Amino acid sequence: MLKKFFEGENILSSLFNFRLNVALTFNVKPESQSCQGDSQTFLEIVSPNLNEAQIQTEKSVDTYAEWDTWDTINAVKSALALNHNVTLVEADHSAFSKLKEINPDIVFNIAEGFNGVSREAQIPSMLDMLKLPYTGSDPLTLATCLDKARTKEILSYYKVPNAKFVLVDSMQRAKEIRLKFPLIVKPISEGSSKGIFSSSFVKDKKELLREVERILVEYNQAALVEEFLPGREFTVAILGNGDEAEVLPIVEISYNDFPKDFIPIYSYEAKWILDTKENPLDVFSCPANLTPELEKKISEAALKTFNILRCKDWSRIDVRLDTNYEPNIIEINPLPGILPNPEENSCYPKAARTKGLNYEEMINKVLYVAAKRHKLI
Ligand SMILES: Nc1ncnc2c1ncn2[C@@H]1O[C@H](COP(=O)(O)OP(=O)(O)O)[C@@H](O)[C@H]1O
Ligand SMILES: [Mg+2]
Repeated sequence: MLKKFFEGENILSSLFNFRLNVALTFNVKPESQSCQGDSQTFLEIVSPNLNEAQIQTEKSVDTYAEWDTWDTINAVKSALALNHNVTLVEADHSAFSKLKEINPDIVFNIAEGFNGVSREAQIPSMLDMLKLPYTGSDPLTLATCLDKARTKEILSYYKVPNAKFVLVDSMQRAKEIRLKFPLIVKPISEGSSKGIFSSSFVKDKKELLREVERILVEYNQAALVEEFLPGREFTVAILGNGDEAEVLPIVEISYNDFPKDFIPIYSYEAKWILDTKENPLDVFSCPANLTPELEKKISEAALKTFNILRCKDWSRIDVRLDTNYEPNIIEINPLPGILPNPEENSCYPKAARTKGLNYEEMINKVLYVAAKRHKLI
């Protein structure tokens, strides 16, 4: 871990003493069509281009939960534009030709992609084909981490603790499950709490079958059934690469202030309904209140996970303690959420802020470590 970077050097000067042509690739939520009152509106450069190719499951309430709003896209653009020439490129069907034409020095990629189980890999795959450097993980890592079961299989191979699980693609398979209740039932490949509701926590076979059916039908994908980890929950932001990869201050998600009848999970209801700009939920503490031993265990598990999955530049890793107080990996987010408004409780920016990096510095540090990795600086 490179503590020196932040402590010994002037962060601003190293982050801002190079200049690049940067393309910012993104997907925008359909409902985020404007950014009223924002003097730095970049809508005229590229407007939301929604078409029939967005073949996500239209049945669910959380179809576009993973995509970004103009607030986020503009905040990233503004941060990069402090020192670089920035062009926005929407990650749609025309992205390949646009990127080819623009031919940027590097791409800052926050695109979640359009469709299918490898959607997060789409833009990085195009960029590999075009031989353009980009921030963040490569297609293999992005596609793997989006498949929570495959990720757990890899972690298990390396003996990194994670909850016992079964992947089910039929009701018959669900009936044969022998895991220990309570369980949690999730879609195999979603993020941003998509498909995870309070009802996903199941105490018996009847509830289990109900939830598996919901995932199979509404999300049209296999259901990941996991034993429930009852302990404290954390999320760990990592920034950098190799020996210089650094664990940012750990965020704890504590459920003490949840309404009494709420299941203690960071569900869709918790993320998008209970926690609003007007009434922010006070569930996060950063740095988490930890003994040095537990902090070390969690940091080591997260860093090991980052390296095993060959993550690049940044990632956020969800962790929960099991009955033996052992950190278990829940999932890896190689494209972490980065809502710019601190009241919106986005964990990666929160961890960065606790480390002393504001939003602009955080974005530019990600660009810096990527540019260094690609030997552009
Ligand atoms: N095995 C588990 N045990 C306990 N809680 C879990 C487990 N898996 C997921 N959760 C809860 O559900 C939340 C969302 O699950 P996660 O897999 O991180 O989905 P997402 O990709 O939507 O963030 C977690 O933050 C945690 O609160
Ligand atoms: Mg998560």
